Amino acid sequence: MPAPRKLVGGRLATGSLESRAMVIGLGLDLAEVARYDFDAARLAWFARKVYTDEEMAYALGKRNRAERLAGFFAAKEATRKAFGHAIPWRLVGVGHESGGKPVVRLYGWATALPLRRGVTAMHLTITHTAAMAAAVVVLEGAE
Ligand SMILES: CC(C)(COP(=O)(O)OP(=O)(O)OC[C@H]1O[C@@H](n2cnc3c(N)ncnc32)[C@H](O)[C@@H]1OP(=O)(O)O)[C@@H](O)C(=O)NCCC(=O)NCCS
Repeated sequence: MPAPRKLVGGRLATGSLESRAMVIGLGLDLAEVARYDFDAARLAWFARKVYTDEEMAYALGKRNRAERLAGFFAAKEATRKAFGHAIPWRLVGVGHESGGKPVVRLYGWATALPLRRGVTAMHLTITHTAAMAAAVVVLEGAE
């Protein structure tokens, strides 16, 4: 029977000599959906100043657009929190894998952040209801 694995520094030790992944950043944010139920003028402003083209195309193609826009806003804030500093609105956004899983996208100078900060993977999850949207971002790095 294999020996039980011990917790080392809050993680399960594998005994392997390979580098191991560790969490180096965590961010959470909550957004009220009603605040993202924009009229045409506000929507145009947010599309210019806050959301990426990919986010706008995704949200406009869905029902419950405000839920999606609230979720994307929460994801931007959660990413900022995970990195620990501000990132301009349109330099951080949400994309989707083919199965629908959301992913953090970085643009412009923000694309250099993961390498500079030793981030090897970024994980994002989003949830939304008619009232609220939330997002969590985990930044993974190597030991
Ligand atoms: C993904 C799933 C769990 C969403 O759950 P839900 O309670 O209906 O909705 P929530 O509001 O909590 O989450 C919706 C968000 O989940 C995210 N999501 C969608 N597909 C996803 C996937 N395959 N993996 C992870 N997250 C996903 C998206 O950000 C989505 O928001 P969007 O619709 O605005 O793009 C559900 O659609 C499902 O079970 N899909 C099939 C199985 C699956 O892919 N599961 C993966 C997670 S176990």
